Amino acid sequence: MCAALDPSRAFPHVWCMSNSNTDQPPPHAPPQAPRSSTIYVCTNLRMSGNSCANQKSKDILKALQSRADERALAGGPMVKVRPSVCMGYCGEGPNVKIIGGDFHHSVKMDDVEAILDEAEKPRKPESD
Ligand code: FES
Repeated sequence: MCAALDPSRAFPHVWCMSNSNTDQPPPHAPPQAPRSSTIYVCTNLRMSGNSCANQKSKDILKALQSRADERALAGGPMVKVRPSVCMGYCGEGPNVKIIGGDFHHSVKMDDVEAILDEAEKPRKPESD
């Protein structure tokens, strides 16, 4: 018997992967969550020198959030767009990072659709 199915364990309901010899989910598995991805937009403001906030990154953030919502409502995949602290490329802002994807520098309004297209693409899980 798989140790995870041992009723004396704290979480006996945990699916035992070692018993899983098929691609089928266990019968009690929750439905698959819709695929989603996350985009971070630096909105940091520096008092001296360049920073993303004084290169209109908040406008980029709002545009990405608005278009991501519109695309999701039209049946597209869910893309979360979040503000971020400094990413370390202050002179090349606005900076946008797609988790598991590319790092975009000097982002313009014209780049919003392409960034969302990239974020919606299926991607491989990151390795350790
Ligand atoms: S202020 Fe945006 S990367 Fe530093």
